[in-house]
Amino acid sequence: MLRIQTRLPDSYSGAPIDELHDRIAVAKATLGDSLFILGHHYQRDEVMRWADARGDSFKLSQLAGARPQARYVVFCGVHFMAESADILTGEDQIVILPDLNAGCSMADMAELAEVEDCWDALSEVVDISRVVPITYMNSSAGVKAFVGRNGGAVCTSSNARAIISWALERGDKIVFLPDEHLGRNTAFQLGYGVGDMKVWNPRMDLGGLQERDCKEATFLLWKGFCSIHQRFTTDHVAKFRREHPEGAVVVHPECTLEVVQAADSVGSTEHIISFVEQADPGAVIGVGTEIHLVNRLNEETPDKTVLTLDPLVCPCSTMFRIDAAHLAWILEGLLKGNVRNQITVDATTAAEARLALDKMLQIA
Ligand code: 13P
Repeated sequence: MLRIQTRLPDSYSGAPIDELHDRIAVAKATLGDSLFILGHHYQRDEVMRWADARGDSFKLSQLAGARPQARYVVFCGVHFMAESADILTGEDQIVILPDLNAGCSMADMAELAEVEDCWDALSEVVDISRVVPITYMNSSAGVKAFVGRNGGAVCTSSNARAIISWALERGDKIVFLPDEHLGRNTAFQLGYGVGDMKVWNPRMDLGGLQERDCKEATFLLWKGFCSIHQRFTTDHVAKFRREHPEGAVVVHPECTLEVVQAADSVGSTEHIISFVEQADPGAVIGVGTEIHLVNRLNEETPDKTVLTLDPLVCPCSTMFRIDAAHLAWILEGLLKGNVRNQITVDATTAAEARLALDKMLQIA
């Protein structure tokens, strides 16, 4: 989805980084408790150093509602996280995304109209009352609302297993949106096999499936993916193991099943961090996730060597858009009473999406 971020004035885009940090420090101190800055683990260091709390997307969704006294919640993350924060914060709180172009291409792969078409088409061939929709946090508020009004739940990479187990107690079939890999990896962890899953391609009639597939599959996995995580291959894992026979491999569950199976451990960004922290001094760890987190882990744990599995990995161009200049622009705006880049979800969508988010918070 195109969200146009206005160009910053030269006094921000042209300012030296040290000056920007000085200005952010002054603005943050002046705003005091009225300001709460959240930072997702994929953010740049120049932004993370200002975060009052860091986390994976689950932890951040819990934290969003944890400071009701903060009038401004500045979310250094991406659009879908800021939308969820707006849903989970109080009515008088204002959620801000410092760069409106900070998004997630995977979230954009499931548009509400396509999800509704999928549901209508499925209703023709299966008992839809036995189908439970589950959406990954990386989805729009509209898709979360769809899931909420149809009795499903949101999940993140740190609780997908618990949420899917819950869904399978209340239905026979799951439509998993929008990341086919997280859906497949979690179903495998729960003991399901390839034959239990079919991929739903929203660009094809009946998702490109036969009626029989829809009836028989336990999991209909939306054909969506993260272009960064999908780049990691088993060759990368094999190369790392050749070069570091004593090393360990940890990857994010947005990677393919083959990569996850070749790794020693799989989990959310928070899990990856604790995996590194708990490794013995001197350990060499190959990581399959976004490069800013990998580099930061390497710097913050000098007694270990933390390497990306793919040396050519390109950073996610939307996840790490926010920089010190945008943060300074937002905070100095607030000092003057100008709220920029507020993220709001309309009341009806928010109420339905909240059902799906609360379900996750309750189960997880
Ligand atoms: P985490 O919940 O693991 O932080 O993942 C968020 C994300 O968007 C991964 O690409």
